[in-house]
Amino acid sequence: MSNNNRLKGKTALITGAGSGLGYETSKLFLSEGSFVFMCDINPIDTSELVENGFADKFITVELDVSDSLGWEKTLSIINSSNKNINVLVNNAALSNPETRWDLINTSEEIWELAMKVNSTGVFLGMKKIIPEMIKNKIGSVINVSSIFGKVGSEMGAVYHAAKGSITTLTKAAAIQYASNNVRVNSVHPGFLETNMTKKLHNKPGVRDKRNASTPLGRIGEPIDVAYGILYLASDESSWVTGSELVIDGGYLAQ
Ligand SMILES: NC(=O)c1ccc[n+]([C@@H]2O[C@H](COP(=O)([O-])OP(=O)(O)OC[C@H]3O[C@@H](n4cnc5c(N)ncnc54)[C@H](O)[C@@H]3O)[C@@H](O)[C@H]2O)c1
Repeated sequence: MSNNNRLKGKTALITGAGSGLGYETSKLFLSEGSFVFMCDINPIDTSELVENGFADKFITVELDVSDSLGWEKTLSIINSSNKNINVLVNNAALSNPETRWDLINTSEEIWELAMKVNSTGVFLGMKKIIPEMIKNKIGSVINVSSIFGKVGSEMGAVYHAAKGSITTLTKAAAIQYASNNVRVNSVHPGFLETNMTKKLHNKPGVRDKRNASTPLGRIGEPIDVAYGILYLASDESSWVTGSELVIDGGYLAQ
């Protein structure tokens, strides 16, 4: 694990922190000196973090990002621990076989549900946390979109719509709060190997196809993207706002 104190003095809130990219980012942030509120709708296994000596450097919070009241409860947990959030990573998202149906076959129920988690969840995260950042005149928000928030594909309608909404909502927020020294950027991962994609990648031919369509020749690991999020969270990116950081093994360059 790296330890260059790139996030010394920072307090981060990461959603979807229990798995995949959110967990890897939490681990990296901890190793770089940040305190982390690890939020997830599901219980988080923190045994590895405790074994690595981070027991007093994080707090886990049960949070459904699409639930406004849940965000309020999270805020009171943060306040009662006397912490100020200066980094917000809106990472949680829902993706399953039903969100991957084409437009005509996407049910209205799945549309509503996935928009609520994947788009409204990001809106609520910023709506609740940015006022705290404004008070302290410092903040970095990183919204996890996708390559599928920039281009279409044969898979999914609602996932594209939600991820696309993050891309421009990020820019609006970046402009609206730049004068408060709150930066807002989006990250656009390509195909990653996580719990979200495990079943899909294990279907005959899918992993091979994704490896082949990625110019660097492989599906990414969460750490490949976590390093980009680390840069945007740190003061190294203090002149970066409203940008789209694509980390995709070259997929979108084609
Ligand atoms: N895996 C990929 O190929 C890929 C590609 C591009 C972008 N992404 C994006 O990266 C982010 C992380 O995905 P991942 O691949 O690590 O997935 P993952 O399934 O491994 O982790 C997602 C986490 O979010 C949590 N979560 C789901 N719904 C939630 C809710 N309503 N409230 C709070 N937490 C919730 C889950 O419990 C899980 O811990 C997502 O935004 C995803 O869309 C993933």
